[in-house]
Amino acid sequence: MTMMKVLKGSVAALALSASVASAADVEVLHWWTSGGEAAALNVLKEDLQGKGIGWVDMPVAGGGGEAAMTALRARVTASDAPTAVQMLGFDIQDWAAEGALGNLNEVAAAEGWDAVVPAALQAFAKYDGNWISAPVNVHSTNWVWINKAALDAAGGKAPTSWEELVAVLDAMKANGITPLGHGGQAWQDATVFDAVVLSLGGDFYKASMIDLDAGALGGAQMAEAFNRLIKLSSYVDANFSGRDWNLASAMVINGEAGMQMMGDWAKGEFLKAGKAPGADFVCIRFPGTQGSVTFNSDQFAMFGVNSDDKRAAQAQMASSVMNPGFQSAFNVVKGSVPARTDVPNDAFDDCGKKGMADLAEANSAGNLYGSMAHGHAAPAAVKNAVYDVVTAAFNGQYADGAAAAAALASAVAAAK
Ligand code: GAL
Repeated sequence: MTMMKVLKGSVAALALSASVASAADVEVLHWWTSGGEAAALNVLKEDLQGKGIGWVDMPVAGGGGEAAMTALRARVTASDAPTAVQMLGFDIQDWAAEGALGNLNEVAAAEGWDAVVPAALQAFAKYDGNWISAPVNVHSTNWVWINKAALDAAGGKAPTSWEELVAVLDAMKANGITPLGHGGQAWQDATVFDAVVLSLGGDFYKASMIDLDAGALGGAQMAEAFNRLIKLSSYVDANFSGRDWNLASAMVINGEAGMQMMGDWAKGEFLKAGKAPGADFVCIRFPGTQGSVTFNSDQFAMFGVNSDDKRAAQAQMASSVMNPGFQSAFNVVKGSVPARTDVPNDAFDDCGKKGMADLAEANSAGNLYGSMAHGHAAPAAVKNAVYDVVTAAFNGQYADGAAAAAALASAVAAAK
């Protein structure tokens, strides 16, 4: 064989393998860039690679996904949408309403998704009766992650009421640590606020955060919620502003801080650091919220594509995401719980088992509510209006809770 022929042959082979690879690729836009999140993402990447589906990574850092959604808008505007996008709640519905998403009905019907995905998730995963996204998990925001040694030093009893919570925070302060590990970013402030509002009652959470009732948004209970949020803000350290959530988790992991009020993705950081529930850290529902859950579900929305190969790769990805074995393996690492009701809890640690039991209990009792902070209570415009007021309150910009509640009612009214 002449040199030229060898060269030609290998160029052709290269071109062939490149085109084959790209047809069966999925390009995935996501915001899973922390240690725990990346570990969970690897479970997915490896699962897909094992099935011959190539992974083109498009990470956009930023907890809660705001930056990722801005990047997505730019890609779609340039007519270059990624094939699969991590997305939350109302954002999925908004993109579907724009006609941007593909259709997963075939794989959903073949695999019987209707029967195993909880209705609360189907409300976001379907549009006009058609499956448009594949839910990979259920997270919830009303959790507190406590350093076990710091809790022991503060009396050893996990708080179950607001008064007990304040007492533990005070004891941690007296012990010379930062009581509350927190990052001052709007979505993190809002995550704490989800739990504070829920602690004043599920009916109040629903009336204010989901029904957007003006009386509930601006009334006495909301004033109390803001007073509690303002009280919590007195327990953070001087450098909290702008800190990423996983760095706040690290403060609790290494004992610099006593606790973090954060969704169960925080557990992924503890596990990644080699910490075990019960021994090194304690997971509790935010005091006063046991029995109720504010949830958010990460889903992979599939954007419309123009080739059968790409559609097939999307369907394969969706099928992999929905596989019961995968849902167990992934969520064990991520800190979340499965997005289907038929996955056994054997592989989960105690916090995961509690998460699964709490979710089932809240669901059957009618105490399962979408998280405002994570896009499952109201569309982005309202969510952002809530973020603004909550962050201003956390940073001491209102005279008191009543002033913040009045500001919240008018901000939401303007955004609706
Ligand atoms: C949430 C998302 C979680 C986690 C968290 C922090 O919105 O649902 O999976 O990634 O943000 O980044």
